[in-house]
Amino acid sequence: MAEQIIIALSKGRIYKDTLPLLAAAGIEPLEDPSKCRKLIIATNHKHVRLLIVRATDAPTYVSHGAADIGVAGKDVLMESATDNLYELLDLQIAKCKLMIAGTKVPKPAGHQLKVATKYIKSAREYYASRGQQVDLIKLYGSMEIAPLIGLADKIVDLVDTGNTLKANGLVAEEHIADISSRLIVNEHAYKTKFSQINEIVEKFKTAIYK
Ligand code: ATP
Ligand code: PRP
Repeated sequence: MAEQIIIALSKGRIYKDTLPLLAAAGIEPLEDPSKCRKLIIATNHKHVRLLIVRATDAPTYVSHGAADIGVAGKDVLMESATDNLYELLDLQIAKCKLMIAGTKVPKPAGHQLKVATKYIKSAREYYASRGQQVDLIKLYGSMEIAPLIGLADKIVDLVDTGNTLKANGLVAEEHIADISSRLIVNEHAYKTKFSQINEIVEKFKTAIYK
């Protein structure tokens, strides 16, 4: 008998970019989460459902086994507790870079940098690896404002086209990591529902590397 498979996805770019992979695995959502308020979406497979979650929550659902599978940005995974889950595949979607950016204004020698970011753990590890002491300020979005208004000297944020930085008079300075979205799988579900999950993983792989 087929087991229930629950897949955690976030709205927006991850959902949009995961749809072709789901289609390659024969999974078609019956509703569009951008057009309805439903957060649990049925699919053409009566045993497969999609959970529409916040991007930062996908690893939590999978780690606790509330979802069997999920899609999460590497940036999110680098900040989260990833107990009880396997990162099985680089889906090569939602690609961008985690970077340090700032204004072109130089800082006096000896000035301890203030860095605003949503990515506290990644920023802490990066600066620590360079032996640099900085004050980290946690923000949840619109990081670009911080250096413009004097809240911080620099930001650590995602950069894709560079348009957001440019529009706000900031420049990319240092590259921290290449980012893409990953397929994550609950460890227990991977054992107990192996054949169904593995079938999805293999179809995703074929679609990514075709
Ligand atoms: P939250 O729900 O926590 O506010 P979010 O608004 O950051 O999350 P998205 O903007 O949909 O969610 O981003 C989801 C993922 O897509 C990020 O975790 C990152 O891996 C990737 N991403 C974010 N911004 C870009 C971008 N400009 N270009 C490409 N990929 C991006
Ligand atoms: C992300 C990121 C940057 C922007 C970079 O924001 O936080 O602001 O994309 O992309 P670019 O280099 O192509 O301009 P997003 O679009 O996800 O908005 P949000 O963080 O407000 O959700």
